[in-house]
Amino acid sequence: MAAGEVSIRDFTTSQLTGLLHSVGIGDNIADCVSLLADALGPGALRSISDPIRWASGVADDHSPVEFSTAFGIGERPVVRMIVEPTANTPSRQDNTAAALRALRRMARRADVDTSRFDAVADLFLPEHPEQDFVFWYSLVLQHATPPAVKVYLNPEVRGGAAADGLVHEALSRTGFGAGHAALRAHALTRPGLDRYSFFALDLVERRRARVKVYVSHDLAGVADVTRAAQAATGVDSDRLPDFCLLTGGREHPTFGGRPLVSSFTFMDGDDTAPSGYSLYVPIRDYVNDDAEARARVLAVMAKYGLDATQFDRALDSIAQRPLDEGVGLIAHVSLRMGRPRPGISVYLSSEAYSTTAPRSATSVAV
Ligand code: TRP
Repeated sequence: MAAGEVSIRDFTTSQLTGLLHSVGIGDNIADCVSLLADALGPGALRSISDPIRWASGVADDHSPVEFSTAFGIGERPVVRMIVEPTANTPSRQDNTAAALRALRRMARRADVDTSRFDAVADLFLPEHPEQDFVFWYSLVLQHATPPAVKVYLNPEVRGGAAADGLVHEALSRTGFGAGHAALRAHALTRPGLDRYSFFALDLVERRRARVKVYVSHDLAGVADVTRAAQAATGVDSDRLPDFCLLTGGREHPTFGGRPLVSSFTFMDGDDTAPSGYSLYVPIRDYVNDDAEARARVLAVMAKYGLDATQFDRALDSIAQRPLDEGVGLIAHVSLRMGRPRPGISVYLSSEAYSTTAPRSATSVAV
């Protein structure tokens, strides 16, 4: 890398430092930064202007990092990052090898328990993955708590047709096999449109570890996600229409841009069905620019009695440009319901590589 050039690792660790300061997670910044640097793998040492990088699916501009901030009433914000580890010469196989090496290093330093991951790894790590996305991390950082690690695996890694069997087997091996039927009955009712997108595991000891299954709903309306939410027990799906309206900006008979996404959380004791549900709205496809996205996030936070100044500080720490000069910095907004606790999360793009130009008022997805 030539002198003066910035690596993706330096760029995103500096954003993380700002973000942690902004929400008052100041106690172990050096640890958090080195955890991110480690999870990124050696490919992240390349300059951000290097053209032969890996086209990561984590973010629209192919940055291998996306930040998020989770807010809940009376709670300090939690900062998370989704990270795709890359190898020196990125490929599906080499990136996975880099990810596994990073996992072994992390297991030595963070509070990481890989037993559940070990139980399903052979399902999701075939020799010849059918898609570029094989293995992502999420790093979870909060005040006065050691960092936690979560793994995202790809249910379609052996092809779309194998996804349902893979998820069923992975749920069975982690003790939640009976919940598969609830997902099928409520969340995967539209063939070709409802698709498994992630199988995620907390790498903490079993009693506290969650297993999450994510489903994307192409061309879905509020009725479709309300039905999906009913796969989970104890979830107040009546909140969804309003959340879709506030984040979507108006009634959308169907969300025709990027899909709405559901996630189902299984925790210890969830013997027949998941007990947590989140809806992710890819707000960036339904606004003209990030100033509009921010206004909608503020409205949602107000509705849920959350302190929006914390969100504004977080946004400021990541943004490299005026909000109305691009779209996609605010990528998703999610509503979390049921166990473990309700709240709102906002996903923020690094924009390390590029920014998407704002749309004109007429070109927003319908
Ligand atoms: N960028 C991908 C997408 O938008 C994956 C992704 C990143 C994602 N963060 C997410 C998906 C949050 C759902 C929710 O689909």
